Amino acid sequence: MNLQISPSILSADFAALGSAIAMVEKAGADLIHVDVMDGHFVPNLTIGPPVIKALHDVTQLPLDVHLMITQPERSIDAFIDAGAAIISVHVEATLHLHRTLSHIKAKGVRAGAVLNPSTPVSQLEDVARDIDLALLMTVNPGFGAQSFIPGSEAKIRRLRELLDAADNPAPIEVDGGVNCSNAATIVNAGAEILVAGSAIFGTPDPGSSVKALRAAAHGTGKNASR
Ligand code: DX5
Ligand code: ZN
Repeated sequence: MNLQISPSILSADFAALGSAIAMVEKAGADLIHVDVMDGHFVPNLTIGPPVIKALHDVTQLPLDVHLMITQPERSIDAFIDAGAAIISVHVEATLHLHRTLSHIKAKGVRAGAVLNPSTPVSQLEDVARDIDLALLMTVNPGFGAQSFIPGSEAKIRRLRELLDAADNPAPIEVDGGVNCSNAATIVNAGAEILVAGSAIFGTPDPGSSVKALRAAAHGTGKNASR
């Protein structure tokens, strides 16, 4: 299993994003998760391409851009030009998912498809061969520091089965309410990329929290027996 930790800067100090990223990069984070919200698809507004460009200039880590915006196809090129390494779009937000994913991949960027908690895994059946990753929301998107929706592990398993049936080794990324107490269960269910916002940037020492989350996911952390 190739575990990757993707700290979500949504819970970081927006006045000091550069130093927030430097802390987790030094601690061995694999990706930087960037939550883009439009106040329409989700009831919150965050950042857009200019901020992503600025972050790209200060980190070596791949930017894992999660678009919570309607009609993402209208602005994908701007996110690619800003330096996104991964772009994930919600299946609920784009009418022509296959076209949107193909466009992202044609530009040399990894394409992810995201499922809201209420969206069944079967929505990915006909693009299962086309995606570079599948992002499963385990909270309703829009805000950090919400609780992991119980029962989501079963959905992770169903998603892994669907990808395996399509012979696609694409990793499953899990986003929402991930912490040291549930990381091992989530990974055991089949997730390989863990997004964590409040469990990293909501703590006094984000660098240590990256290491603790990785240890917990491997079942070697202090919460391992839970
Ligand atoms: C929520 C975002 C998440 C958020 C996760 O809509 O997509 O990436 O930052 O925050 P935590 O880890 O605190 O649940
Ligand atoms: Zn996210």
